[in-house]
Amino acid sequence: MPHSTSHLDTSPKADLVLLSWLAQLPKVELHLHLEGSLEPQMLFDLAVRNQVTLPYQNVKEVKQAFQFTQLQDFLDIYYQAATVLVTEQDFYDLTWAYLLKCKEQNVLHVEPFFDPQTHTERGISFATVINGIDRALEDSEEKLGISSELIMCFLRHLDEESAFATLILAMDHLDKLKGVGLDSSELGHPPEKFSRVFAKARELGLLTVAHAGEEGPADYIWTAINDLKVSRVDHGVNAIHDPALIKYLQESQIPLTVCPLSNTKLKVFDDMNQHNILDLLSLGICVTVNSDDPSYFGGYMTENFEALIVSLDMTQEQMIKLVENSITASFCCQQRKQQLSSALRDYI
Ligand code: ADE
Ligand code: ZN
Repeated sequence: MPHSTSHLDTSPKADLVLLSWLAQLPKVELHLHLEGSLEPQMLFDLAVRNQVTLPYQNVKEVKQAFQFTQLQDFLDIYYQAATVLVTEQDFYDLTWAYLLKCKEQNVLHVEPFFDPQTHTERGISFATVINGIDRALEDSEEKLGISSELIMCFLRHLDEESAFATLILAMDHLDKLKGVGLDSSELGHPPEKFSRVFAKARELGLLTVAHAGEEGPADYIWTAINDLKVSRVDHGVNAIHDPALIKYLQESQIPLTVCPLSNTKLKVFDDMNQHNILDLLSLGICVTVNSDDPSYFGGYMTENFEALIVSLDMTQEQMIKLVENSITASFCCQQRKQQLSSALRDYI
């Protein structure tokens, strides 16, 4: 059972007990961009390997560049960094490094995103990208015991035609994909811009998710649900401004994949103590904790939970509920869900 204090005790010793309990808590990650897990050291190593010139001289300069006041500031750097990814082995190495981090943090199941257009627009083949990622995910199941479902995202700042062309490329690889998503610059690019592409993806048997209500309004969450028929909303924190939507999310239990460190780094909330994830949880909405782009936002799964403990006095009961929500919201089969639930029950 959770240890007796229901929120973070103020003594440093108890803090350590809670933090070490958190470190090995079984976890599930549903909102992670593989390109956003590219750590500065790997960025430099791949730049050398592939002879790509970067506007940074060293890791310190890279970290200095990671100061954002809005989503677009981050995306500009994120797309530039992705140019170091060239070969299938690069995509394997990127994915494998993320999975090793998951192993360290006891993340047992992951549903990563990748952005094929970021690479195909530079002349990298779709197969190079997906085969590298898929091989690492396969190895992880066998060697690390981490299961996965892969989600391909369309870049919403590009047009419908480019998204359709990407979906056509994906048709040779449907066995490697569970779903499609929608990411990149949200404002001015509402979900309904991609209604027809998502309808085609659903026809192909793919599940759908979309980033909505991160910087964009609650209306975008409605259209993600009604037009794109998403099974989950990525971020969705701006739902709080629309009481009818809150009621709908309570009733439908459509999950929100929330990313606390991302939201504070991109100034969706000025400070973690203003984050609304625990308010949404207490309203009975199926919220989950995720890291989004851990290399850019200051941490992986454990660090995201830690930030909520420190700033919002999150309790062990709340943490357990958040992990249970992730298991419920995941796209894995019932048998795997039962295994994940058992791992969680055995731990608590
Ligand atoms: N691509 C990578 N991270 C993203 C985010 N937080 N929002 C939109 N697009 C993204
Ligand atoms: Zn995201």
